[in-house]
Amino acid sequence: MKIVVIGSAGRLGAALVREYQGKYDVAGFNHAQLDLSNLDKIRGKIGGTQFDVLVNAAAFTNVDLCETQPDQAFRINAEAPRVLAEICGKKNAKLIHFSTDYVFDGEKRAPYTEEDEADPISVYGESKLAGEKNVLAAQNRHLIVRVSWVFGPDRPSFIDGMIKRAQENETVDAIADKFSTPTYTHDIAKMLPQFFDGEVEGGILHFANAGECSWQEYAQWALDCCREFGVPAKAKTVGALTLNDMKDWVARRPVYSVLSTAKYTQLTGTPPRTWREPVADYIRRFYSKK
Ligand SMILES: NC(=O)c1ccc[n+]([C@@H]2O[C@H](COP(=O)([O-])OP(=O)(O)OC[C@H]3O[C@@H](n4cnc5c(N)ncnc54)[C@H](OP(=O)(O)O)[C@@H]3O)[C@@H](O)[C@H]2O)c1
Repeated sequence: MKIVVIGSAGRLGAALVREYQGKYDVAGFNHAQLDLSNLDKIRGKIGGTQFDVLVNAAAFTNVDLCETQPDQAFRINAEAPRVLAEICGKKNAKLIHFSTDYVFDGEKRAPYTEEDEADPISVYGESKLAGEKNVLAAQNRHLIVRVSWVFGPDRPSFIDGMIKRAQENETVDAIADKFSTPTYTHDIAKMLPQFFDGEVEGGILHFANAGECSWQEYAQWALDCCREFGVPAKAKTVGALTLNDMKDWVARRPVYSVLSTAKYTQLTGTPPRTWREPVADYIRRFYSKK
């Protein structure tokens, strides 16, 4: 089975390529090799490549920059996925396209299911939702996988920033009134192959590690794991910030964007791991020997 991953130098895309090497015939396109803002280039390069499954892990992910560059956001996050879906349709190949918890407005206080209405409050969220719709309009057997708070070794994310700050400062703080669930790229890579089969039903699927937390709780657990695994850090506890303290943010962000994984669990018979476990694995594996 030939798998092509777009966004192969990103946090998620790089993890997918690494995990699938040796198991599948896998190839990747990074940003320099394929610019998703050039729709003709996509038609030429992806149209001219043979594969069974195309995974799109590339996106314009800078939430604040999307507010000031909406045309670019929509071209990369909405128009490019439409073209990818059309190409896959012609090749009878499956497209797996990643999306985000930011398609929701965050007003709910229970995990969002795939049936909940998406109502984004940022250009990023709007462009990603438009991408989802474009993909499914082109071919309803394609799969949209919405993920949240992605972390992994291939590109720094919130957790790495917190550990770095805790290593450099006596005190650190993080937002205590915004909730979602950290999701490990390794766990995404492990679960995804179940959906490579073109006969498996498409549509929208939520995947995140199980449970929910604030950024403060996430950071506190990261520091607790550092202590447990002998990773030096000056700060031991994480103080509380509020969303109102974030004066530099341009885009609005959903306050609560926990994704329900009930559908995933029902389809596969296996619930995702609870978030504390993969966070601990990550710190043990990638920090404790540094
Ligand atoms: N990170 C999260 O917490 C999170 C949460 C929810 C959903 N998601 C979704 O998960 C997916 C993977 O995100 P990630 O965490 O891996 O983000 P990431 O590390 O920012 O990776 C995105 C990749 O897309 C590439 N890219 C950006 N503009 C491009 C363009 N015009 N043409 C081609 N490639 C381009 C980037 O390359 P350059 O860096 O070289 O520009 C980067 O390699 C995305 O669909 C994202 O929306 C992520």
